[in-house]
Amino acid sequence: MRVSKEPLIEPAAIATKIKEIAGRIASEYNSNPLTYVAIMGGAFVFLSDLIREVGLNARVDFLWLSSYEDVQSTGRVRVIRDLGSSPAGRNVLLVDDILDTGRTLAFARELLINKGAADVKVAVLLEKNIPKYADIKADYVGFSIENKFVVGYGLDYNENYRHLSGIYVLEE
Ligand code: IMP
Ligand code: MG
Repeated sequence: MRVSKEPLIEPAAIATKIKEIAGRIASEYNSNPLTYVAIMGGAFVFLSDLIREVGLNARVDFLWLSSYEDVQSTGRVRVIRDLGSSPAGRNVLLVDDILDTGRTLAFARELLINKGAADVKVAVLLEKNIPKYADIKADYVGFSIENKFVVGYGLDYNENYRHLSGIYVLEE
């Protein structure tokens, strides 16, 4: 396996898109205290750029979930490490790298609602153009992409390639 020579999405395009999304988030949560919950591990690079562009004081928490083995979704979502603090009564913005089948975000939303979150919205950098498993829709989407396995900017293939600044397609 290796990555495409050219990025599918250049770092500069990512930065421009994040500014755009961040502007919308900032106006929505301007007078509405916000808690980011990042789905780990893929979301940490997106989260770190996003919170600085949004520029609002906010809580940040992390939820470690896993569903992928190699390039295949296993169909099961597992909690690897739970939230650090209770989301009860909070307006949560779930942040993930990519919305694929939707299982992970549907699972995370359910978990947050069960723990008493007041409101749960979803921000993803990427969305794959495939049918979704559950009625999960992202409120903020960076880019819609084809159904290819991508890496970089936090997204991994078996824990590789997270460090790349752009988004690349994984190739045989
Ligand atoms: P879903 O549950 O099928 O929506 O999968 C979402 C999770 O799978 C994301 O949080 C990613 O971590 C991972 N994932 C899905 N597609 C890709 C991909 O193309 N590259 C890297 N990770 C992916
Ligand atoms: Mg993930």
